[in-house]
Amino acid sequence: MSSSERIHVRAPGRVNLIGDHTDYTDGLVLPMAIDRYMEIEGRRVDGAIELASDSESQDVVISLPVSDVQQLEPAWGRYVAAVAAEMHDRALPTHGFAARVTSNIPNGAGLSSSSALEVAAGLALGFDQHAVELAKLCRVAEFRASGVPCGIMDQLVIAAAVNKHALLIDCGSLEMTPVELPSDVDIVVLFVAHRTLRGSEYADRVAECARAEAEIGPLRDATLARAASIDDPLIRRRARHVVSENQRVRDFTAALAAGDLRGAGELMIDSHRSLRDDFGTSVPVMDEAVQRLSSLPGVYGARMTGGGFGGCVVALTDKGALDEGWTVHPVGGAAVI
Ligand code: GLA
Repeated sequence: MSSSERIHVRAPGRVNLIGDHTDYTDGLVLPMAIDRYMEIEGRRVDGAIELASDSESQDVVISLPVSDVQQLEPAWGRYVAAVAAEMHDRALPTHGFAARVTSNIPNGAGLSSSSALEVAAGLALGFDQHAVELAKLCRVAEFRASGVPCGIMDQLVIAAAVNKHALLIDCGSLEMTPVELPSDVDIVVLFVAHRTLRGSEYADRVAECARAEAEIGPLRDATLARAASIDDPLIRRRARHVVSENQRVRDFTAALAAGDLRGAGELMIDSHRSLRDDFGTSVPVMDEAVQRLSSLPGVYGARMTGGGFGGCVVALTDKGALDEGWTVHPVGGAAVI
């Protein structure tokens, strides 16, 4: 390998249109990769990763193979180190690099900047298998780096999105169906409050869903009646969210295909209510934003997006209806440039 060999990779952020807190019970999600990117650009070097970042004051230096991911400082380098460690554990060749990370995906906004960094790091390290395998590896790396027991939605849409489409994912089979968005709408993302899933109740929700499944079996196959039979009222509500949210993903996809924007918007509002009341992952500023946006002319619906506890809300609107937030466009998955 020549040390003058250039590397340049980029991975998009993502916004989830509907289907939150369903991926880790093998449910349905409908995210899209967005036209905001994490890029890693530099050159190959042997035996190390040296990374500077536009948004972080401290550089990262990692010797390959990685010895201890959790102790690495500065902490942002752990996402990269964890990907290298996972590749090494799978006996995949890892090629070092000296590079700069640039990003216009805001950190801590729930637009999956950490997953984009992982996927970009995988490509920069020379991962050359199928995008689904890269996503699986990066999901494990996320847990290794941050301790957050996330599902596969973020890494998979970032790695495998199809240009100009959202991606309907069955997180059980990993079947992916590109979904075209109507040409006369905008998808608008509005940042509401900083958040981190580390130390949030995300892991509690994963455990609560596991309790529901221990009682009634896989939530992906459960009916609302079955969820209603759960003894503990809290666990019953969690299960009701997941079961109803899976159905909303199906209904939303059908509404889009039928051009029923009103119906699609109502499903987004229902999804938000379910995340707020049954799943407990919203916060008051998100509720206020959803309520305010949904009452504006030309807005069909809005909801919190992603893990929650802060972050962004996403709205489905007529073109140009909102003069706030970011209008985002669906793009293809991560790539070597
Ligand atoms: C975070 C996780 C995803 C998913 C969402 C909620 O973004 O990384 O796996 O669970 O929260 O839908």
